[in-house]
Amino acid sequence: MATNVVGKFLIHDLHIHLRQGALMRAVTPTLNKAGIGAVFVMPNLKPPISTADQAVAYRSQLQALAPNVTFLMSLYLNPALTPAEIRKAKKAGVVGVKSYPRGVTTNSEGGIESYTVYYDVFKAMEEEDMVLNLHGEIPSDPDNDICVLNAEERFLSHLKQLHKDFPKLRIVLEHATTKAAVDAVKSLGPTVGCTITVHHLELIVDDWAGKCHNYCKPVAKYPHDRKALQDIIKQGHPRFFLGTDSAPHPRHMKETSVCAAGVYTGPHILAYLANALDSFGALDKLSQFGTEFGAKFYHLKESDIKNASAVTLVKEPFTIPQLVKYIDDEGVERELVPYRAGETLNFSILP
Ligand code: NCD
Ligand code: DOR
Ligand code: ZN
Ligand code: ZN
Repeated sequence: MATNVVGKFLIHDLHIHLRQGALMRAVTPTLNKAGIGAVFVMPNLKPPISTADQAVAYRSQLQALAPNVTFLMSLYLNPALTPAEIRKAKKAGVVGVKSYPRGVTTNSEGGIESYTVYYDVFKAMEEEDMVLNLHGEIPSDPDNDICVLNAEERFLSHLKQLHKDFPKLRIVLEHATTKAAVDAVKSLGPTVGCTITVHHLELIVDDWAGKCHNYCKPVAKYPHDRKALQDIIKQGHPRFFLGTDSAPHPRHMKETSVCAAGVYTGPHILAYLANALDSFGALDKLSQFGTEFGAKFYHLKESDIKNASAVTLVKEPFTIPQLVKYIDDEGVERELVPYRAGETLNFSILP
């Protein structure tokens, strides 16, 4: 029996990509015994999850693949979405609506150009107590000096405006990567939350420039930005919680001239998280950041996660696999390269 027991944990991942088809069937079952209670599932499939019926059908597919996990579903904000569909979605148990500015990331060609056209939808969401999930980047615009390094900071005025116009609407700024974003969320009211990924606690620009497996959107920023993300967790701020943005892409889509954005952390999230928090002296915040704060913001109840069981985290070396193989929808063998593939972490979970 291992002596270096850290404790028992059941974490919630409030931002995850579980894909569709063969890739979905490859990645989803691995969540079952990973110490994960609930996950908030992103809707950027092809085609996007745009209606309540689609979200419900997607949820039952996922549920069958990982019966112990609670799947919180989202819709993709799009011009066809109506207040009536929002009310229908709420009744069907859909939790949130994700907005992607057009063209900024994987399958965001259908994303939004302007928020004001959606104000009747947001009003309905506010009334129904649904969550608005913001991919907080504006599109690159070289003529106006906008690129991936300042796209998040320049987005924050939209966040502030939305909160001002819909103060009771719960809004999550997803996968924050900058000190500016942390400061903005801190300055806003109790209805504004923020997810932070594990990889953004560890990476800076140098770690993805030329290194395709660390390339994701929003890109990791400066050392002082990473420090701000670490510090807000260290402080135990209750509106900042875990959303991994685990985003698997097959290896041939990553290791190519135009690299797909996304870091795959899925099955090992608890070990990655413990390792990251420990590296900056915040292992004692694992329960708050990884479990409690997200559950509180999402109004998760004990009964919502009744099928999941906590796992035992130990301080024992654990080497991340180099590759995960799967057969794609065309019957071709493909590979996923997990985050920090081949590296040894200081934490593992007992089987
Ligand atoms: C997948 C991806 O990007 O890896 N996308 C998705 O399911 N949203 C699969 C694909 O590229 O077809
Ligand atoms: O890195 C990312 N990958 N960021 C996103 O916003 C989307 C995601 C994906 O779907 O691959
Ligand atoms: Zn996003
Ligand atoms: Zn994402």
